Formats: sequence, structure tokens, C-alpha cells
Amino acid sequence: MRPIIIAANWKMNTTPADAGELARTIAARTHEASVERVICPPFVCLATVGEALAGTGVAVGAQDVHHEAAGAYTGDISAAMLAGLATWVIVGHSERRRDHAETDARVSAKLGRAIEAGLRPILCIGEQLADRDRGADAAIAVVDGQLRGAVGPHDPAALVGAGLVIAYEPVWAIGTGRNARGSDAAAMADAIRGGLRDLGWDVAADGLPILYGGSVTAANIGEFLAEPSIDGALVGGASLKPDEMAGIVARAALTANARRAETPVG
Ligand code: PGA
Repeated sequence: MRPIIIAANWKMNTTPADAGELARTIAARTHEASVERVICPPFVCLATVGEALAGTGVAVGAQDVHHEAAGAYTGDISAAMLAGLATWVIVGHSERRRDHAETDARVSAKLGRAIEAGLRPILCIGEQLADRDRGADAAIAVVDGQLRGAVGPHDPAALVGAGLVIAYEPVWAIGTGRNARGSDAAAMADAIRGGLRDLGWDVAADGLPILYGGSVTAANIGEFLAEPSIDGALVGGASLKPDEMAGIVARAALTANARRAETPVG
């Protein structure tokens, strides 16, 4: 049975002065043992948020990691630097692809750094609006290309061992208030698992958690979690609002408990 995961991506919001309190508030208001919770604050807030979340069961993630292990990369953060500060890491977010020209090859290298460092990667993939406007098959082809580019070079067992999670995030739905349809997200999740099978993942593809991301709120999370292919959400804007996070995680707990009840024992 796949876990239900709600990951918060705070993006370039909060400061070391206020991040701890926000993290504490969210942790207290989302206390659901059946849901895996992760908060990904800015790098400079990792330590504060880690202290605030100690003992709460909420994990800490970084929003990015450099594709090289070390060297002359001014301003960048390596996987080794994250030791003790984060246990998860987002790679390939569309805002990084857009603003930092991250290619699939770069994203793949970042996955490699995450594996080496024992960080649990959340790989983001998703099509642009122009791709979606060309139809579902075109959108699937784009996402499949990103999947192959990032995951293809790696041994499936290494990625499974690292606890890889994939976030399907249609770029046109991120920060726009326009979310995808649950059925379209589920079709994409099925296509992603099909792509992994083609890459030699075999039955491991069925165990891979796939999240939806893009304008998720407490009001629309149910549409995604009603889809058996979708295992949670990567939440941006709404993840800064404790009321929203409380609603999202409460809804996620309903799905987690229902899936547990359906799973045959033994
Ligand atoms: P959003 O962001 O929820 O604000 O659309 C999601 C994301 O970028 O991960």
C-alpha cells in the first residue's frame, strides 16, 4: 500500500525569524498519524524549521540541491550541506527549470546527488499549457520525456531505495488558481507508472507514490485524493496558511484510513 503524503513547498517565502512559528502551528494543526507530512522551507530557514518540528513527526525538505557534489559554484547548496538539516529534497520544480534553465539532464544529476546523500527526492514533472492545449496525448508525451530524462539514467532499485516520490505538476496550474481535473491528473499518474515500467521498474512502478501539485487547496484536494492513482499533494501557496493545511491534511487522513481499511491483511 502506498503512503499518503502532503508536502508543503514554501518557495521564496518566510524568514528565519518567522518560519519556526509557522512550522509549529502547521504541525500542531495537521496531527494525523496516517499522513506523511513534509515542509520544505527556504534553505536559510531549514535549521529553524527543523528545531520547530522536532518530535512532531513532520519531516523537513529542501527545495533544491546542486547537481555537483562540491566545487566552485558560488551561492549554491550541495547535498552534503543538507545533512542534519533536511531528509527530503524537491528536484526539478518547474520554477527552477524556468528561472535556472534546469534541463532534464541536470535534474537527473540532482537525483543522483540526492540518492548518494540519503535524501528522499520529490521529482517534479509537468507539461506547459501549450502542451495540454494540444491534447492529453501531447501532455503525456512531454511528461514522459521529462520522466525518461530524469529517471532513465538511474538504477530503479537505487531510486526505490531512496524513496523516490514523483509530483505531477502541470505548469499552467502552479500558482494560477486553476487546478487540473482529478481525472486528468490520475490519467497522467497512470501514464507515469507505465513509463516507469518501460524503464524496467516492473512491479516497483506500482509502489511509487505520485502526488499532484498545482493550486491545491482544502477545497479541491478531495478531487485528487478520490483518484486511487494519486497519493497526496505538493502544495505551494496554500501551504503557508495553517487553515488550508489543516483542511488538506484532514482530508488526506480520510483517504489514508480508507485505503488502509481496503488493504487485505496478511
Ligand atoms: P501552488 O504551487 O500550490 O501555489 O500552485 C505548487 C507547487 O509549485 O509545488
